[in-house]
Amino acid sequence: MNAEELAGTIQEALEEGRTAAAPEALEAIRVKYLGRKGLLPRVMKGLKDADPSERAQLGKLANQLKQELGKLLGARKQELSGASGADAANFDYTLPGQWRQLGTRHPISRVIEDTAEIFARLGFTVAEGPDVETGYRNFEALNTPPHHPSLDAQDTFWLESGELLRTQTSPVQIRVMETQPPPVRVITPGRCYRRDTTDATHSANFHQIEGLYVDKCVSLADLKGTMAYFARELMGPSVGVRFRPHFFPFTEPSVECDFSCHVCGGKGCSVCKHSGWIEIAGAGMVDPRVFKRVGYDPAGVTGYAFGMGVERIAMVKYGIKDIRMLYDNDVRFLKQFK
Ligand code: DAH
Repeated sequence: MNAEELAGTIQEALEEGRTAAAPEALEAIRVKYLGRKGLLPRVMKGLKDADPSERAQLGKLANQLKQELGKLLGARKQELSGASGADAANFDYTLPGQWRQLGTRHPISRVIEDTAEIFARLGFTVAEGPDVETGYRNFEALNTPPHHPSLDAQDTFWLESGELLRTQTSPVQIRVMETQPPPVRVITPGRCYRRDTTDATHSANFHQIEGLYVDKCVSLADLKGTMAYFARELMGPSVGVRFRPHFFPFTEPSVECDFSCHVCGGKGCSVCKHSGWIEIAGAGMVDPRVFKRVGYDPAGVTGYAFGMGVERIAMVKYGIKDIRMLYDNDVRFLKQFK
């Protein structure tokens, strides 16, 4: 091999080294050019027989082959083993591991799931209805005729089809009773919509959990006992309930249900606005007119119903001051809720 040929071969060897894709290929190149039976020893051995005019040049090239190819193969080996993480000698076991961040449950989901779990112990199942509801189920079937003044507060998002975005989860009561005979024991969580201007305590889009229990001889005492149990399970063992008279078109009598403040124990603090009580739910005994609408016999069954705001419960339970924090999707806020 003359000097010119050797120079060409060195370029080929370097090119092979640059393009080799696996550590095994690098090793094969090393054996082929630098190994005991490879090119380099052959060139070295041939030096003494070489044309004296080329000898120096050949020696220089042999040296270049050894240095440059050796260096290139070393660097490529590091590169390849680094990429696959396979080189145990270069692996630092003391580096922190790579954690996949686990998400956390949103406070709204927590309240809904915790509530469903508490009521499941009392035999309640979960039912759901659509966000787009008929005016009939959202109002009329709930004993709220179109001229009723309580509609003012719920003048809402109407669709061109005549349907609306439901203002409450109460229409799901109607859906459940339309499809099954008594007894009924369900809670129905879901999203509701009202034409409210957003501020720290209002959102045009919020969640409610409805409850409905229909059977023979269900009384207001059952409602009270159930709410007291729910209050203790959700907020803490010393929380009590009180009922105040109220009005809802679909219940008679109607009440508003308050929990005693879990923060101050009823003494008065900023969470309960210094009253010792926190308004949690609207409730009452299902109006016989509602039973008639769904084909139930008002003389044969009685029932109670309630509806409560999920955001409101989340806010008092976790001390959240502004409802908008629940929708900002700020991970720094959300990751506090495990
Ligand atoms: N739907 C009512 C509201 O949005 C809450 C409510 C009150 C639900 C009384 C009920 C009930 O089931 O019986 O204000």
